[in-house]
Amino acid sequence: MQHSFKATLFFVVIIIQGFLFCAWIFIYRGSMYEQISRNDTSNVMKSLTTQRKRKCPLVSPGLGQLKIDKVTHSWETIEKKFSKIKDGHHCPENCKARQKVAIIIPFRDRENQLRVFLNHMHPILMRQQLEYGIYVVEQSKGLEFNRGFLFNVGFKEALKDSDYECFILHDVDLLPENDYNTYTCSTDHPKHLTAGIDKWNYKMLYTSYFGGVSGMTREQYEAINGFSNSFFGWGGEDDDLYNRVIWSKMSVYRIINDAGKYTSLQHKQAVGNSKRFEVLKTGKERMWKDGLNTLKYNLLQKTYKQLYIHLTVNVT
Ligand code: BGC
Repeated sequence: MQHSFKATLFFVVIIIQGFLFCAWIFIYRGSMYEQISRNDTSNVMKSLTTQRKRKCPLVSPGLGQLKIDKVTHSWETIEKKFSKIKDGHHCPENCKARQKVAIIIPFRDRENQLRVFLNHMHPILMRQQLEYGIYVVEQSKGLEFNRGFLFNVGFKEALKDSDYECFILHDVDLLPENDYNTYTCSTDHPKHLTAGIDKWNYKMLYTSYFGGVSGMTREQYEAINGFSNSFFGWGGEDDDLYNRVIWSKMSVYRIINDAGKYTSLQHKQAVGNSKRFEVLKTGKERMWKDGLNTLKYNLLQKTYKQLYIHLTVNVT
């Protein structure tokens, strides 16, 4: 009797242990499976898609002469039109972009122009198959507008977001007429993209003109210590930038054909800063005392809007 009780107890203990062991296996494997599906599949998918992505072609298909739409569409319309763009940043879906480009726009009181600009530029940058972010750097009210300072801020802030290789320094009132004008940088020399503007009958104002739209790699921009922060008011900062390029033993190249043509948006022309010629004279001695390495700013806000990254800053 005692013998059969012992045997039954032994049997029950074995069954309970077996049951606990199966439950443990079931729970453990379940959580492992959950972990794999949560983390690894997304990583695996990511690496598979990057592996599969080939470099985008050197010359993207479908480029050419553009129609310029100067209508100021509502934000709602433009945002709906470019619903695939998020946080002011975009990259090609089917290939790996050849360059990561930050488009930097110094800005103040030109909201209408910004809408026209974004409506025109996004399709171009997408067709050119670039990975890009558009940075609109607004100077808060107060001091006179300082274009060079705003570019420096845009450069620094863009690099906090991503390892951009190319920086396109762009006025908001200029629209490229042909998208063979590629928004990329050359490692050889800084590039001037504005070969001609309609308001000047597409003639170059002077050979060393370096305003409007220009492009530099990160290395080139750092090699010249960026823009001077000393040009308040209209004019001079682009001439000073040109000098910095030359003093750094580089040169500016420009493609002079129809691809470099721009249409300008009308606005009241600012009065030129008459002191700019005096500031320009001291350019060489200021180059390493005034620029990226001495930049001080107060970032009031940085917002990742759908179609651009909006920064508001003031000079400190
Ligand atoms: C100014 C430049 C400007 C150019 C064209 C020059 O006098 O110094 O800043 O880009 O004129 O308007």
